[in-house]
Amino acid sequence: MNRQLSTANCQLPAALITGGGTGIGRGMALALARRGFRVALVGRRAGPLAAVAGEVEALGGQALALPADLTEAGVLPALLEQAEAGLGPLDLLVHNAGVLAGGPLDSHTAQGLAGALALNLAVPLELTRLALPQLRARRGMLLLVGSMASTMALPYASLYSATKAGLHGFGQSLRHELAPHGVRVVLAYPPGTATAMTAGMAAASGSAASWLYRLRCPEAVGERIVQRMLAGQNDIRWWNGEGWLATMHQLAPGLVQRLLRGQATRFARMFGEK
Ligand SMILES: NC(=O)c1ccc[n+]([C@@H]2O[C@H](COP(=O)([O-])OP(=O)(O)OC[C@H]3O[C@@H](n4cnc5c(N)ncnc54)[C@H](OP(=O)(O)O)[C@@H]3O)[C@@H](O)[C@H]2O)c1
Repeated sequence: MNRQLSTANCQLPAALITGGGTGIGRGMALALARRGFRVALVGRRAGPLAAVAGEVEALGGQALALPADLTEAGVLPALLEQAEAGLGPLDLLVHNAGVLAGGPLDSHTAQGLAGALALNLAVPLELTRLALPQLRARRGMLLLVGSMASTMALPYASLYSATKAGLHGFGQSLRHELAPHGVRVVLAYPPGTATAMTAGMAAASGSAASWLYRLRCPEAVGERIVQRMLAGQNDIRWWNGEGWLATMHQLAPGLVQRLLRGQATRFARMFGEK
């Protein structure tokens, strides 16, 4: 497939983006709309979704706002039906909605732990499972928004790291399974980005670590993910401080883990020691 998605039926390609109303999701929605994608936007709050739908329409595009809590029982099949009814079968499914879920493990409630596992990991698996017939039929694409924590677990973020590592394994395995069907699985590992999720983290990280935690602009991050994905890249990384550290972690895990442990107090502050 499918650098250029099929427009054989003369329809513009359709994408569903979870968490499309804010942050990196909004950035990807606008970047996709600028390239002719029609977008379905999912999130719990109707307000941000309507605002992004308005921005897409101002670009001359088509957007469908689908307010829903992805973790609620029975929501996922209904969402796919609504998206298909509004835009036709999906060419691209973007799993972007997520929760940071930082802090020591025993600071989480059982409900919080289950909620983070559901949103960050179980929902992408189940939504993908449900969307497979459409994606196979369209020889489409799946985009998973991971994190540096996907391949390098961070101190005081065991829950978040577990979910993002799970997403990474899911995407890497599924890539083999779907390749014969012409469906691409793309994994993105964004750098620290200034969104609601990271509000307060930069200040908490302290100046000595600022080279690691300089936060990017979400529009630029979303634009780069989309641009790289459509250029045919399957693993989208940033070669900044974080990116190099994650790569070094593959080569010398003990060394990098000692380095991270040396910064554990700072990570505890960043991830909101409770
Ligand atoms: N910011 C970073 O530094 C960074 C770095 C690496 C990776 N990431 C990843 O990037 C993705 C987007 O995060 P972001 O930084 O752009 O933060 P964000 O603006 O807080 O985005 C999270 C999105 O998820 C949606 N969401 C949360 N819970 C939901 C639920 N139960 N059902 C439906 N939608 C839900 C939110 O919308 P509602 O609140 O309206 O539901 C929001 O649009 C996440 O997967 C995150 O792990 C972020």
